[in-house]
Order: sequence, then C-alpha cells, then structure tokens
Amino acid sequence: MEIVHVPVMVKEVLSYFGNLRGVFLDCTVGAGGHSEAILENIKGSVVIGIDVDEEILSVAKQRLKKYESEGRAKLLKATYVEAQRVLSQLGVKAVNGIIMDLGVSTLQLTKGERGFAFSSDGPLDMRMDKTQRLTAYDIVNFWQENQLRRIFFEYGEEKRYAGRIARFIVKNRPIETTAKFVEVIARALPEKERRFRRRHFATRVFQAIRIAVNNELENLRNFLVQVPDILNQNGRIIVISFHSLEDRIVKEAFRSIQELDVLTRKPVRPSLEEVRENPKARSAKMRIAERK
Ligand SMILES: C[S@@+](CC[C@H](N)C(=O)[O-])C[C@H]1O[C@@H](n2cnc3c(N)ncnc32)[C@H](O)[C@@H]1O
Repeated sequence: MEIVHVPVMVKEVLSYFGNLRGVFLDCTVGAGGHSEAILENIKGSVVIGIDVDEEILSVAKQRLKKYESEGRAKLLKATYVEAQRVLSQLGVKAVNGIIMDLGVSTLQLTKGERGFAFSSDGPLDMRMDKTQRLTAYDIVNFWQENQLRRIFFEYGEEKRYAGRIARFIVKNRPIETTAKFVEVIARALPEKERRFRRRHFATRVFQAIRIAVNNELENLRNFLVQVPDILNQNGRIIVISFHSLEDRIVKEAFRSIQELDVLTRKPVRPSLEEVRENPKARSAKMRIAERK
C-alpha cells in the first residue's frame, strides 16, 4: 500500500486565502498537499514551496511536476527561517499568502530509518534536514541529565516524570535505537502511566527530542518576526500547529507584531468529519493573520 500524507484542513486553508491571488509561499511543502490545493483552486496562483527534507521534497516535485513545468511552482530545499533570502534569490519581494503546516509528515513518521517513530524500530535520528549534524542519538547519549530533564519538561510537557525518565536514560546508555529508547522510557514510568495514558506513553518524550533536534520552536519564532517583511498588504498567513507550545508561539507572535491583524481570536479546529476520516488531524489548530 502506498503511504500518503493527507493534508489537513485544506478546505479551511482555501477559504481563508479567499480572494487572494498571485504568489504564495508554502513554508513546509512536505508531500505538496496544500500547495497542490492552492495551485488547483486559486486561479493563476504561483507557489514557492520549501522544505528542509530533501527526500520529501522529491515527492512534492513529482506531484507538482506539471505546475513546475508551467512555471507556476518553484520547489526548493531550504529552511523557512531563510525564506526572505530564498524569495529575494527568486526576485520576489513579498508574497500574498503564506502557509505553514508544522509537525511531522506521515512520510517521515512511517519510515523507521528516520527515527521519528516509537512504533517502528530505527536509529535515533529524527533530523528533518539530513545534512544537519545533531541527531537524536547525540542528545539521548551525550546530553547531561539536567538538560534532558529540562527538554522533557518544557518541550514534551512531561511534567511529573521528566526527572525520572532523564535518570533512567543516563543509567541505560548507550541507547542506539528507537526500540531501546521506548523500552527505557517504559521502565522509567509506573505501570498506570504506561497503560492508561490517552496517547502512547513515549509520545511526549519523542516530541521533546524531535523539537530539540530540529530547533523547532526557535525556528518558528525566528520566522514569524520576519513575516511583515515578506507579506504584501492584505496578504494572509495561515499557521497550522499540532501542539500547545507551537500554538502559543503563533498566538503571541501574531498578537505582538504590529503590522498584523489577527483574524482568529481562537484557533480554528478541523471538522468532526475530517477527524473521523483522518485521526492525525485531531490536534490541529489553525491561526490566521492579515498584513495591515
Ligand atoms: C506536516 S509536514 C507538511 C505537509 C504538507 N503540508 C503536505 O500537504 O504534504 C511538515 C513539513 O515541514 C518540514 N519542515 C520542518 N522544519 C522545517 C523548516 N525549518 N523549514 C522548512 N521545512 C521544514 C518537514 O520536513 C515536513 O515535511
């Protein structure tokens, strides 16, 4: 069976882009789902799509081949933190719409060798950008116990057991694979935590390591402050996030950037119907702002 990444909240993205025309920036093009929806539905639109993951970018390139050859899509490997540089290299000063779909793509999650998944064994990697040096292995095996505790607490919101998990990790080094990592986390947690959590007991710790490996929160903050410089007047930015840390950063950045009007006091959530069809959408939160 072919593995696909089902893009989330596509209807909402199109409806909030509304009557916008012209050039759109997809900061996290992934397998190209949102970009394709924009190209198909917004007449004459041009999409500049970037992603740090070369492997996934090739999926988008394949999917959007027709639009690339027509000159309506331009896909390149870059981090969205450098969006401004990318745009200026393409001779584009500013765009009319920006979309960010944060989190991990199904294509990354389902490949054990990428190390993102607690459900399939693989090396401790978790890099979105394979040219980067820092991996999950380095963090798990070399960071000090108190650094680990801090990231589990802050990035994983693993409040009560952050210290215990960090201690067990240090005691059980070296930890080379995701399967062994899950086993060590399991040993650190009391049985009731392992059995009765709503989500898999390793979810929060994996999230914390992934955020640290990819510098995800800093990147997001650093990008959002640049938005007024790359968004045309009346242009819109849509951000879809998947956990409360990201959502808080988006909410606060939108509120504090003077040039932006916030269109969503509360985040927009996926419909029940969408969640039923694609359970991965259940934690999605979408916020939208417009350039004054
Ligand atoms: C949830 S997926 C996007 C899925 C996409 N919207 C689709 O429809 O297929 C998130 C993507 O963001 C990419 N990503 C993560 N950090 C990035 C960064 N700093 N710059 C650019 N892309 C990044 C990941 O590699 C991943 O492909």
